[in-house]
Amino acid sequence: MWTPPEHIKHPLPAVRWPSAEEAAGARWFSPVRIGTRTARRRTWVPAMVPWRATDGGEVTDDVIDWYARFARGKPGVIVVEATGIRDVPSGPLLRIGHDRFLPGLQRLTAAVREASGGETLLFLQCIDFLAIRRRPEREKFFGRYLMLGETHRDALARITGEERWRAAPEQEVRAQLASLDDQLLPEVLDPRELESLERGYRERVTDLHLPHIRELPAVLPGLFSDAAARAFEAGFDGVELHYAHAYTMASFLSALNTRDDGYGGARENRIKLPLEVIRAVRARVGDRVVGLRYLSDEVIAGGNRVEDAVWFGVEFARAGVDFLSLSKGGKFEDAKQPKVGEAAYPYTGQSGYECMPTVISDEKGPFGRNVSLIATVKQAMNAAGFHLPVVTAGGISSFEQAEHIINNGEADIVAAARQSLADPDWFEKIRLGLGAEVRRCEFTNYCEALDQRHKQVTCKLWDRVQLDEPDVKLDASGRRRLLAPRWETPRK
Ligand SMILES: Cc1cc2nc3c(=O)[nH]c(=O)nc-3n(C[C@H](O)[C@H](O)[C@H](O)COP(=O)(O)O)c2cc1C
Ligand code: SF4
Repeated sequence: MWTPPEHIKHPLPAVRWPSAEEAAGARWFSPVRIGTRTARRRTWVPAMVPWRATDGGEVTDDVIDWYARFARGKPGVIVVEATGIRDVPSGPLLRIGHDRFLPGLQRLTAAVREASGGETLLFLQCIDFLAIRRRPEREKFFGRYLMLGETHRDALARITGEERWRAAPEQEVRAQLASLDDQLLPEVLDPRELESLERGYRERVTDLHLPHIRELPAVLPGLFSDAAARAFEAGFDGVELHYAHAYTMASFLSALNTRDDGYGGARENRIKLPLEVIRAVRARVGDRVVGLRYLSDEVIAGGNRVEDAVWFGVEFARAGVDFLSLSKGGKFEDAKQPKVGEAAYPYTGQSGYECMPTVISDEKGPFGRNVSLIATVKQAMNAAGFHLPVVTAGGISSFEQAEHIINNGEADIVAAARQSLADPDWFEKIRLGLGAEVRRCEFTNYCEALDQRHKQVTCKLWDRVQLDEPDVKLDASGRRRLLAPRWETPRK
């Protein structure tokens, strides 16, 4: 992962944990209205993909165990990982693009309800994403994938000074291209072809020459609203539309979206499809909870900044969403070049760092790094007369941080992803005055590295401890436990 050039190692901040009485009076543990529902607390576990579904996108026992484990910590809300809204294969990521996924999802909602004693609301994050391929071997790219055309032949003739390439047999041209020096490739390939060779082919929302990309505005409102309706049928308490990071809806919102069909260019056009999706979902699910996650800053050259996030936030609120959860970065545009045979991963560049910052940082450090940006959005929305809850996340791992953010009016709900992974019981421990027992996240991103390699996500603080406990389930390597060790709530 990219790290800030300053390379300053930050210690975990000193913490003071509250007594049970203090926690009982804390804002973070107080209820909050989210649309037509009330979360019992303002504690929130945001979406985290654990790579535990089947290759067909079905819920497994491991998926259920993963969410039930978080539910034992009784946060106000858990958001289930990015779940694909289409009925197309997408590896071991959850899907909801067909009714056959319903029984598994129903088991999941029931398990969370039971494990939290009904105290946690369960939302589902609905995602659409475009095709991305692995970085190809050079021979395969030139031998098979490249759509050979006149421009390649012309370039070859120009570079070599040999006219015969204009009419040479295709296989010879391909072999000659494959043997070219790297420095000559920009003269032969257009920028997209070069990108496909060097990083793997990746579709963009601006690829209007592709019929299925041109038609996205026609199909996505239906796909999202079908998915949302299914989520409620499966027993979820809300849906979170994924408009963040590197995926389709964020790409429509992005300042880099130059579509010329009315869905790109000016902000008013870029938000058109996201609003159409919201309206379609709302029309389908009535007053059930519909919120969304989007970016406070894209952190890429030419991308959206907080001013865009403010403008979008007000429009989303006007369109009637029930909550806004803000994240930051996580884009493909600045991702590291993948190895041959691997796909680009949107959390490897600077924007990825900003999404999941680590303790190796700049002067500002990783803790609460996004709070001020998100506060800007919340305050602008409130000033515009909208008071839907705003969720903040990013490097938050203590009671004091969370309380300060809420008391300061910087957010209404405080989410923690990695800290909740490090210790799924941490909310309960704090609530019961047992904060000293919290296993504190070290923010070094071992979990994120597993995600990057599409391996079952675990935490380095617990995945090799107490392996001899009865019923411990191990990962595919047989060396790491899949769930944090059990913590029993002490009897009074
Ligand atoms: C393993 C892992 C998987 C993640 N998967 C998702 C996801 O599916 N959807 C999403 O919006 N964010 C995802 N995130 C980002 C988190 O929700 C969160 O925004 C980020 O980790 C920063 O919060 P934190 O500092 O509390 O960890 C993921 C993070 C991790 C570590
Ligand atoms: S693996 Fe590291 S960064 Fe991830 S949750 Fe555990 S301690 Fe935190």
